[in-house]
Amino acid sequence: MKFEPGAAGRPVAFVTGASRGIGRGIALELARSGFDVAGNATRFDPSERQAGLAEVQVRCEELGASFLPVRGDIALLEGHESMLEAVLHRFGRVDLLVNNAGIAPAPRFDVLEATPESFDRVLAVNTRGAFFLTQRVARWMIARADAAGAARGAPPWRPAIVFITSISAVASSPARAEYCISKAALGQAARVFAERLAPHGISVFEVRPGIIRTDMTAPVAEQYEARIAAGLVPQGRWGLPEDVGRAVAALARGDFAYSTGMIFEVSGGMDIRRV
Ligand code: NAI
Repeated sequence: MKFEPGAAGRPVAFVTGASRGIGRGIALELARSGFDVAGNATRFDPSERQAGLAEVQVRCEELGASFLPVRGDIALLEGHESMLEAVLHRFGRVDLLVNNAGIAPAPRFDVLEATPESFDRVLAVNTRGAFFLTQRVARWMIARADAAGAARGAPPWRPAIVFITSISAVASSPARAEYCISKAALGQAARVFAERLAPHGISVFEVRPGIIRTDMTAPVAEQYEARIAAGLVPQGRWGLPEDVGRAVAALARGDFAYSTGMIFEVSGGMDIRRV
């Protein structure tokens, strides 16, 4: 089913961390669902057609979507204005923000050894960057929604914001405390924005992936493989980027228009309490 924005032109999604992994999966599923996509990542080399944002651009265009690469480190707040301006300059609108960019601590230290440097970097990207980018995009969405509402006979416009957190928002991993803390805080950011933006018709959702096969989990893939085989995941397999992408696309289509602030877990049943 294609998303019908109720206004002229295709809806536009701004996806952070879209060059690979889950962000790539989200970008492709949104392109498949009728969105044009602005895809952010820290690096973009236009001469490299086989990897990163350039490859995602080719795939999105094959699906009929326009794609804008938006380069920038989400942790650098001073770059947010020019990123949003680039999206608006190209498309004139943002219907959906997906806060997906995120990092794991490198290296992983036990909580008793965790360093201030790692703590600050992980929270700067995963939490602080997403929080302030959302603030900026939300302000634009509010102004756009008010203008659309003031126009006589204007069709309804239902923008949305998605935060990609993690089961680590609630599940403890002593080897990466700062990551767990960053995702718990991000989940709470989703709820605060959901309440604040609800009167403006902007829905906000938290999507919590479980164990997804990407570059982020590659260094610990063997451990996860063994734990999945031993029953860690009730559905008995790794999650794939497209599992998360499809969930985001379903939210983006507006099928959950009366569910703002809700958490959608994509974890193969890891949230089920078991004895
Ligand atoms: P990944 O490492 O494969 O990809 C991360 C993406 O974010 C890349 O496109 C990278 O360029 C971008 N990125 C990293 N730092 C950035 C920054 N400072 N500014 C802009 N872009 C930046 O990671 P993966 O696995 O695709 O994870 C995506 C999101 O999903 C992250 O927020 C992660 O915490 C979350 N997640 C991942 C899970 C997994 O099992 N892989 C499970 C639960 C959540």
